[in-house]
Amino acid sequence: MKIAMVGLGYWGQKILRNLVSATGAQNVVAIDASVDRLSNVAGTYPGLELKLDLDDALADPDVQGVIIATPVESHGVIAKAALRAGRHVLVEKPMAGTVEEAREMVALAEERQLALMVGHTFLFSPRIDLLGHYLNTGHLGKVHYVTSSRLNLGLVRHDANVIWDLAPHDFSIIFQLLNETPVSVQTAARQVLGGVPDVAFINMQFPSGIIASVTVSWLAPKKVRDLTIVGEQRMVVYDDTQNDEPIKVYDKGVVIPDSPDFGEYQLTYRYGDTVVPHVSAAEPLGRQISHFLQACETGTVHISDGWFGLKVVEALHAADLSWRLDGEPVTVSDYARLGL
Ligand SMILES: NC(=O)c1ccc[n+]([C@@H]2O[C@H](COP(=O)([O-])OP(=O)(O)OC[C@H]3O[C@@H](n4cnc5c(N)ncnc54)[C@H](O)[C@@H]3O)[C@@H](O)[C@H]2O)c1
Repeated sequence: MKIAMVGLGYWGQKILRNLVSATGAQNVVAIDASVDRLSNVAGTYPGLELKLDLDDALADPDVQGVIIATPVESHGVIAKAALRAGRHVLVEKPMAGTVEEAREMVALAEERQLALMVGHTFLFSPRIDLLGHYLNTGHLGKVHYVTSSRLNLGLVRHDANVIWDLAPHDFSIIFQLLNETPVSVQTAARQVLGGVPDVAFINMQFPSGIIASVTVSWLAPKKVRDLTIVGEQRMVVYDDTQNDEPIKVYDKGVVIPDSPDFGEYQLTYRYGDTVVPHVSAAEPLGRQISHFLQACETGTVHISDGWFGLKVVEALHAADLSWRLDGEPVTVSDYARLGL
């Protein structure tokens, strides 16, 4: 089985490294519209087949899967060409720049019974697995709210604003952990550096009543990758910038008295232990590529499939629309009711 890999830029080269280590260079067709990019990777991985155009790779019957890491505006066109040619697809996040395009991709994959997977890389992180375990086993108790911040100075992108570029990470993590998608999204954003928002504050309400707040920025003094989940029993802080102790579980909370007669001054605060669990250091991107290679064998995607990617795109669209409407809350359409 061969895999065609389209787009060999910043992120594509990281994917290529993992792909070559999983399959061997002789089973990879590397594709980029830039000759310079092709000659870069040719020097690093001898034995790679190189092409300027995906169509040439699709003519090879041994190519069973296509990985797409081009700028977002070309995701839909390339993914649909690959699906129409009967190939399984892994497309980078966000899966498309519009809800319509994302829906067409999902519909095509369903119709052709092909695997469509979206590169929400954090969902393959052992750190997110552990947070999911805490939530699924009730370790945190009933969840009240989630906050997430993804800040740095740069990298400013030209193919997307900061919402479409960074928020897919926070949205995918939060939707996966809570196992639900928001009913309503409200955004305040500013265009400080150029023509597109570079900082955004996004608030979300979920059907369960949980609320979440996501801050994304290309214009911040230091790198922040923080997610906090506040539950009735425990609270957890996940700091993705930390290599050794990325997750801390705080046995903290407020005990509310049973009797309604007690006033607020009767609340007691619980300060228990802080636990720092061991988390596997397995590289998420390596796990993501293995998952896709399996999906190419079985035709089934278990994590981050096209439907999930579509939900993320719907929420991104709602968040983007809200700031354009001066922060008016936008109701996220229920993708299941849209007749796909
Ligand atoms: N999952 C993650 O954590 C993560 C991180 C960074 C970027 N990304 C995503 O990866 C994608 C690529 O981002 P990047 O930063 O690598 O971009 P980039 O600009 O560095 O690279 C894009 C590459 O695609 C090539 N290309 C563009 N159109 C093409 C076409 N039609 N056919 C063949 N090649 C084409 C360009 O020549 C370039 O080499 C984006 O969708 C981005 O959102 C994901």
